[in-house]
Amino acid sequence: MAYFRYHLFFCTNRREDGSPCCAQCGAQEMRDYLKARDKALGIAGPGGVRVNTAGCLDRCAEGPVLVVYPEGTWYTDVDREDMDEILAEHLLGGRVVERLLLPAEISRAPSPPSGEKGREVGEKWLDRAE
Ligand code: FES
Repeated sequence: MAYFRYHLFFCTNRREDGSPCCAQCGAQEMRDYLKARDKALGIAGPGGVRVNTAGCLDRCAEGPVLVVYPEGTWYTDVDREDMDEILAEHLLGGRVVERLLLPAEISRAPSPPSGEKGREVGEKWLDRAE
């Protein structure tokens, strides 16, 4: 069993030369928002969700980008509403949010390997957070 159910890496890299980067797209604010929501719901930590700041993930022009493991699901164009949707659908519900996938990911969007189990765990988390 994995130490974290979902491990997110959120690029907040800033390119000082002005070329496209995630920091230009509000990545730090979105990363902080998601991390705060995870904590508020009580799902952060071992057995739950870990949100890590990442350096450049080599998809700079598509930012802000984050990747969710264990599936390796890449998301982009995220704002607070998108973060809430990723939280509710993917992290709690075990369902990939296809409209937020990086374009190259759409054709190979994985189904979470344990979607039914994810929903069970998500419901328990939601019960605990209420
Ligand atoms: S700056 Fe975010 S992927 Fe490169």
